[in-house]
Amino acid sequence: MQTVAFIPDLRRTIRAWRDQGSSVAFVPTMGNLHAGHIRLVEEAKRQAERVVVSIFVNPTQFGPSEDFAAYPRTPAQDAGKLQAAGVDLLFLPGTSELYPSDPAAMTFVEVPGLFDDLCGRFRPGHFRGVATVVLKLLNQVQPDVALFGEKDYQQLIIIRRLVADLDLPVRIHGVPTVREPNGLAMSSRNGYLTPEEKNRAALLYAHLVEAAADLRRGERDLARIERERSAQLVALGLRPDYFAIRRQDDLSPPGPADARLVILVAAWLGAARLIDNVQVFL
Ligand code: PAF
Repeated sequence: MQTVAFIPDLRRTIRAWRDQGSSVAFVPTMGNLHAGHIRLVEEAKRQAERVVVSIFVNPTQFGPSEDFAAYPRTPAQDAGKLQAAGVDLLFLPGTSELYPSDPAAMTFVEVPGLFDDLCGRFRPGHFRGVATVVLKLLNQVQPDVALFGEKDYQQLIIIRRLVADLDLPVRIHGVPTVREPNGLAMSSRNGYLTPEEKNRAALLYAHLVEAAADLRRGERDLARIERERSAQLVALGLRPDYFAIRRQDDLSPPGPADARLVILVAAWLGAARLIDNVQVFL
């Protein structure tokens, strides 16, 4: 596995592959890799002949009071895992490579409607930072396919919309969430949890699964499901930002005829803000 820190080196390597006729898959990450990231890499290897992974803890997607400084950074271990997983190229840029000038004065992208809802309501500016860095990385790598985890469902929908609206020549491939044996969705932020909190955090998934079962049984009072599940999470000591039932395709509130739904939750437990979701097909 080759590791590069600068955009011209990244482009040179990828151009050489292209000249040989190879297809390219790209997995953008913020590092501190776990089994969920390795699943993305495995799927990337099925989708293309060459696999590029980036590790960049993107400052513009963190709010001023969020965990940018504390976010776990483990580049040496990450590189070992990516090498073992058969990645061809690791892009490990420094902040000045992606943001050579003050990010506050740079061009950015926004995806109207989807930005301020759900997580966007509680993390102002977050998706603007995500969309902007993902657009930059896609322009730098120019892959045939880019892979994102379905755990960050709103992020996935925003990136699909960004790619469609700006006519980017890349296919976006969502990969199902990888879970711990107790159901907890794998996340770098799980490292903030104590063992006891990890058990309690698994209840998020249990409540999503039960709410999905309510819908499949014919319950159609969505507001009641959302209200009652939130209250139950509070009773368990979690602090939910939202528990919401939406349309899978655009995350708008569903109407009676909608059959492709997604139930999304974001909740605080201790120092960790956890997100998860399940898709429901009625
Ligand atoms: O999902 C993530 O790890 C990040 O939001 C991403 C897509 C790498 C952008 O920084």
